Amino acid sequence: MDVISIRDMSKENIEDYLSLAEKMEKDLQNNSVKKIDGIISTLFFEPSTRTKLSFQSAAERLGLKVVDFIASLSSLKKGESFSDTVRMVDGYSDVIVVRHKLEGSARRAAEVAENPVINGGDGGNQHPTQTLLDLYTIKKLKGKIAGNEVHLVGDLKHARTMRSLAYGLAMFGAAVKLVAPKGLEMDLEMVEQIKKNFPSAKIEYLQNIDFSNADIAYVCRIQEERFADKYEAMSVKKKFRINPEYLTGVKDNFAIMHPLPKIDEIPPEIDDTKYARYFEQARNGIPMRMGLIKKVLEG
Ligand code: CP
Repeated sequence: MDVISIRDMSKENIEDYLSLAEKMEKDLQNNSVKKIDGIISTLFFEPSTRTKLSFQSAAERLGLKVVDFIASLSSLKKGESFSDTVRMVDGYSDVIVVRHKLEGSARRAAEVAENPVINGGDGGNQHPTQTLLDLYTIKKLKGKIAGNEVHLVGDLKHARTMRSLAYGLAMFGAAVKLVAPKGLEMDLEMVEQIKKNFPSAKIEYLQNIDFSNADIAYVCRIQEERFADKYEAMSVKKKFRINPEYLTGVKDNFAIMHPLPKIDEIPPEIDDTKYARYFEQARNGIPMRMGLIKKVLEG
């Protein structure tokens, strides 16, 4: 019952998670959440606001107890390895949510742990629970995922959210347009894999931002922490921005999503437009992660 990559999931698995999130959202509204026993640990070696706190909040709402790990105050500082840390935390809890800067770290944690492991982000690789809440948000906003034209805009080379989401969108039959600053395009291998797994997928690179036919723009920040050259990151960050003029002529029900945090790529005046849906998107993390924890613990 590990949740490591969106690529491990079938469409039916994902549909189950979407239905479960919907049920959890209704239960929260009706104050009828069925409590479950257990302890969850949040083992984050990289910073996080949304993923860590929403998992903790989701767990508390389900009646679980939370064991938190603060990397800077842990025995990592004495040189303890990642694998040994996972083994210890596995003994203290029933499910682990792990985030680490190394690609493949969540899969390694799942090999070492006896209890289920949920990937809260492994380097630039995968962020499956973000993709589940993104798909849930799109379904809530648009009624369905298939047929929407979704523009993925930003640092498509380093953003794990984009790699996961491109795969999920193609699986569900959305049309995906990839728009990135020069040098930060999604790698061709990933796009080829999507086309191979979903031969009818509509996925293509665009040279410029043009939202006139888009249903959704899913924007992400320049992932400065993953650049070898910080000056290059600063230079791209200065230039990459969703100007309010890009919203002229968009569809009436156009939506802007973002996994957050946003830095300068979305100017604050966009927050007040009807198109900005990213705060609502982040809140959808609660019912989605409640459903995930429940499913992982109860099977
Ligand atoms: N979307 C997301 O992963 O945010 P955090 O880095 O704050 O968890």
